[in-house]
Amino acid sequence: MSEYLGFPIIRPRRLRRTSALRDLIRETKLNRSDLVYPIFVDERAQKPIPIESMPEYFRLPIQYVIKEVRQVIDLNIKALILFGVPFKKDEIGSQAFATDGVIQRTVRELKREFGDRIVIITDVCLCEYTTHGHCGIVKEGEVDNDSTLKILQKVAVSQAQAGVDIVAPSAMMDGQVKAIREALDDSGFNHTSIMAYSAKYASCFYGPFREAAESKPEFGDRKSYQMDYGNSNEALREVELDIREGADIVMVKPALPYLDLIYRVKAKFEVPVAAYNVSGEYAMVKATAQKGWIDEKSAILEILTGIKRAGADLIITYFAKDVGQWLD
Ligand code: PBG
Repeated sequence: MSEYLGFPIIRPRRLRRTSALRDLIRETKLNRSDLVYPIFVDERAQKPIPIESMPEYFRLPIQYVIKEVRQVIDLNIKALILFGVPFKKDEIGSQAFATDGVIQRTVRELKREFGDRIVIITDVCLCEYTTHGHCGIVKEGEVDNDSTLKILQKVAVSQAQAGVDIVAPSAMMDGQVKAIREALDDSGFNHTSIMAYSAKYASCFYGPFREAAESKPEFGDRKSYQMDYGNSNEALREVELDIREGADIVMVKPALPYLDLIYRVKAKFEVPVAAYNVSGEYAMVKATAQKGWIDEKSAILEILTGIKRAGADLIITYFAKDVGQWLD
């Protein structure tokens, strides 16, 4: 006769009885090494500039970044992603690939100071650098794919020359990973990795970032290049294409409304999966916490553990420094 395995013999609550027991059997634990800390570098700023829709977050002048990164390293967080706000914008975003551009200068200084103690990731996109705020070259009112690829190649190579570890194309142009891989290899940077923003959705949750990076499109929206949030099979296809084109890490972005995709991408592919806990997700937590409606620390830890549990190997989050202070 088969034994009846259920209540009262089985009692799941036994292992929840004490905090030490719960710790012992916890399946998903957040680590500092899971986290990537974003930094906005503003070429025009003289001092840190608060970002209204991202409470307690600042755009930093280059000379402050070293100090900030020293704090990040002291917290034992080992990766950063940099976004630049240039002094001058133009139609093609030429400051995005200038040798002395804001990001190129910042990367050089950081590498000189910290070397390989920190992993530096840079955003490969044009929206912060173009007058029209789109992520690519605008031709007859449309964002033109193939001419944008040539510019993205220059951006990635200029960042690699500055010494970046990983370039992260986020423009959502078709073929961008292939174009960048080829350009990097042709220029002698076959060791520079690519983290592809593969499944990047057209999302309202980027609103605060666009204030931070001054990258709001002047006309229209990004729906002709970023993905439609009703689709998930399409995201798997985007990921597969990026892996074939040479992506070393793939990303799902935003994180919270797309946990199903993080899960599916992790289950289906063998490459590391990144999730971007974006600016609007940060702002929601901050705003509700400021009102006293949720406990900020608990919310952050629950959210980030949830993103990891869904399958993310690394999480880009504006909360990285906070978490660095809290973990034991
Ligand atoms: C594009 C880029 C964006 C974000 C990261 N890279 C904005 C966009 O696509 O409009 C958003 C990140 C966030 O909201 O935190 N360079």
